[in-house]
Amino acid sequence: MDGPQGVNEARALLAGARRVVALTGAGISAESGVPTFRGDGGLWKRHRPEDLATPEAFARDPRLVWEWYAGRRSAVAACRPNQGHIALARFALASEAVLVTQNVDGLHERAARDAAGATDQDPSPALPLELHGSLFHDRCSGCGRVSAASATVDPSAVAALPRCGDCGGLLRPAVVWFGEALDAEVLGRAFAAARTADVCLVVGTSALVHPAASLPMATLEGGGTVVEVNPDETPLTRFAAVSIRQRAGDALPVLLGQDARRREWRPPNA
Ligand code: OAD
Repeated sequence: MDGPQGVNEARALLAGARRVVALTGAGISAESGVPTFRGDGGLWKRHRPEDLATPEAFARDPRLVWEWYAGRRSAVAACRPNQGHIALARFALASEAVLVTQNVDGLHERAARDAAGATDQDPSPALPLELHGSLFHDRCSGCGRVSAASATVDPSAVAALPRCGDCGGLLRPAVVWFGEALDAEVLGRAFAAARTADVCLVVGTSALVHPAASLPMATLEGGGTVVEVNPDETPLTRFAAVSIRQRAGDALPVLLGQDARRREWRPPNA
């Protein structure tokens, strides 16, 4: 179902839910200016993932991989959370919703800190489970230690690349690459939330990459429903009770009961 009737139904499902899990993908950040992976102009249309986003690529040419990630870091740092991130952050602060993202851009976290700061709240309930890691952390390719991202990365030569303060190994971005396993604890928490959710709100993902794309199925198996927000149809659409064909920044404030014309915001079930 779509259209105004779909929006009303989705609002009602979300307002009536005791537990919501939200799964986001690159589409939620598109309106912030962060490119998606598979659409027109998508990153994987312009680059080959096997050259840039695999452990083998890093072993072969760490300088090239860092050049790309340093560019992504500075491009994303210049972007700002949009109305979609903000609506989800406010919703999570006001409810027990769990946010799960495939994105590595840190925009959910920035929205959480902004929203919590505005109301003097603890941002933790609105911090997402980052299934694919974070562009803004480094991990040592030797000992595995995770640290805050190096302030600046000079990708002009291998000798200039950042190294681990503990073991001297080459640092790499703390993102999950093709062929790598997701963090088991993060994944376990995401599936636990999905299995017990009344509604899984899926926003801006092509639903092609597993295990993330299996989370809505866990909600369905647990007896919950799926609401999708995506301008395009995806493999998940046929499993969704409602699929809203809108952009995230337009749809989410409405679905989550945050009318932009009202200065005071109340959760949808208030
Ligand atoms: P994709 O690029 O595969 O899909 C983005 C989805 O967002 C598409 O279905 C678009 O229709 C939709 N979309 C575009 N603009 C939108 C908007 N304004 N509002 C809502 N939806 C919009 O990105 P992901 O599904 O996130 O993994 O990709 C999943 C994973 O594949 C990524 O995390 C990344 C990639 O390889 C790793 O790097 C491990």
